Amino acid sequence: MTAQSSDAFVFFGASGDLAYKKIFPALQALVCRSGLDVPIIGVAKSEWTREQLIERARDSIAHAAQEEGTVVDEAAFARLATRLQYVDGDYNDAATYTNLKAALGAASRPLYYLAIPPVLFKTVVEGLQKTGCAADARVVLEKPFGRDLVSAQELNRTLHGVFPERSIFRIDHYLGKEAVLNLLYFRFANAFLEPIWNRDHIDGVQITMAEAFGVAGRGTFYDEVGAIRDVLQNHLLQVVALLTMEAPSAGKPASSNEEKVRLFRAMRPIDPKDVVRGQFRGYREIQGVAAGSDVETFVALRMFIDTPRWNGVPFYIRAGKELPVTATEVMVDLKAPRAVFDEIEPPDSNYFRFRLSPEVVIAEGARVKTPGETMQGERVELVARHQSTRSKSPYERLLGDAMRGDNALFISDECVEAAWAVVDSALNHAAPVREYEPGTWGPPEAERVASPEEPWHNPGREAINPC
Ligand code: BG6
Repeated sequence: MTAQSSDAFVFFGASGDLAYKKIFPALQALVCRSGLDVPIIGVAKSEWTREQLIERARDSIAHAAQEEGTVVDEAAFARLATRLQYVDGDYNDAATYTNLKAALGAASRPLYYLAIPPVLFKTVVEGLQKTGCAADARVVLEKPFGRDLVSAQELNRTLHGVFPERSIFRIDHYLGKEAVLNLLYFRFANAFLEPIWNRDHIDGVQITMAEAFGVAGRGTFYDEVGAIRDVLQNHLLQVVALLTMEAPSAGKPASSNEEKVRLFRAMRPIDPKDVVRGQFRGYREIQGVAAGSDVETFVALRMFIDTPRWNGVPFYIRAGKELPVTATEVMVDLKAPRAVFDEIEPPDSNYFRFRLSPEVVIAEGARVKTPGETMQGERVELVARHQSTRSKSPYERLLGDAMRGDNALFISDECVEAAWAVVDSALNHAAPVREYEPGTWGPPEAERVASPEEPWHNPGREAINPC
C-alpha cells in the first residue's frame, strides 16, 4: 500500500536558525519544483505576526539565493507566501495546540517538523497528542537524537507513546546528499568493486570531515554536544555504514536501515584509548560556551568492525572545526601489490578517494610506468567528477520524502540506538581535551591515532597527476 501524502506542513521553531538557514529555502524549492500545495504553518514563541513570518521567509530565501549566486524566484515565493500561516505560543501551553488545530482547518494528515532544541521534543509531542493533533500525523526530528544510548532509548519510548515508528522521520541531512548516496550506488552498481571490497584487499579507511570555520553564533548548542555527538554519532557513522554494510535487498530501499543496524551491532565499541579529543584555542571565549568548557571541537579516532568482511581493518575518523580547509573526504587504501618491480618509492598509491563535499569526486589512485628504460612508475589519479547544479538540496529532498511518507533515507529507532552503542564508551570515558591552534589539523596527539605507515591524508591537497 502506498502511503498518503501529508496534507499540511507545520514547523515548530519557525523563528529559529534552522528554519532560517534550511527550512524556508527547502519549502521554496518544494513549492517551485514539486508543486507543494498545502497549508504551511510556522509555530514559535516570538510574538510575531503572519507578515513577520513572511518577511523572515523572504529574507532567508534571498540570503540562500545570494549564497548560490542566483536570484529569488518571485513567482514561487508568492505561491509560498500565500500558504504561510503563523501560530504564536508557548510549547507548554495547551492553547498553542488548540490554535494550531484551528489553523490546520480541514487538514487531517499533517507533518510536524520539530526544528527545536531536543529538550522540548517531549513537551511538543505530548502537547500534540493531548489536543488530538497527533492522529494520522507524521513527525520529523533533527539530531542529536538523545545524548547517549540511555537518553536515545528514552526519547524513542516518548515518541512511540504518540507516533508509530513508520510515522517518525529522524533526519540526518547527510543522507540527503548526492555524494553520500553515491557511496552506496558506486559500491553496488559496479561489479569490479565487490571482489576487492574486504579485508583481503583493503588496508585501512580514513574519513576526514574538516571545517575551516568555528561555532560562532551557535556556542550554546555546540557546548551541549561537541564533535562526537554533533557529527560522529550520526553523519560520519552513516558514511561508514554506507561504505561497509552488506547490500540492501533489491527493490527494497528501506532495508538499508536493517543492514546498517546489523553493521553497527558488529562494530566494536570505540576504545577510549583510540580517541584524541581537541579544542581550538579561543573556543571558550565564544558567546554561549562555558568558561571552563572541556567540550571537544575536534575528534580523531580508530575503530573496527568485527564482520568476516572487515575483521582487522582499521577505520580512522577525524572531524573538527577551525581546521585548514572545509572538505569531507574518504580514502580507502588498498593493499600494496606483490612486489614485481624494484621501485624506490613504496607502492602506496592504490586507493579510492571519495570527496563528499564541497565537490563531488570519485577518484582511483594507480601507478603507471614512467617513460624510459627502467620499470619504474609514478602515481596517477583517475578522476570522475560530478557536480550537478540541478540536484536538490538535502533538506528539499528529505522533506519531500517525509511529506510522501517515504522513510528510506531516515534513521530508524534501532539504527539510532545501535550507533549510540558504538560511541557511548568514547563519551563515558572521554579522553582529556587537548588544545590546538585554529587553522591546524588538530592537536599533535591526533597524529598518533593514524597508522605509522599511513599518516592522515589531509583533504585539499592537490590531486596527484590528475589525468
Ligand atoms: C551539522 C552540524 O549537522 O552538519 C554542523 O551540526 C556541521 O556542526 C554541519 O557544520 C555540516 O554539514 P554540511 O552539510 O555543511 O557538511
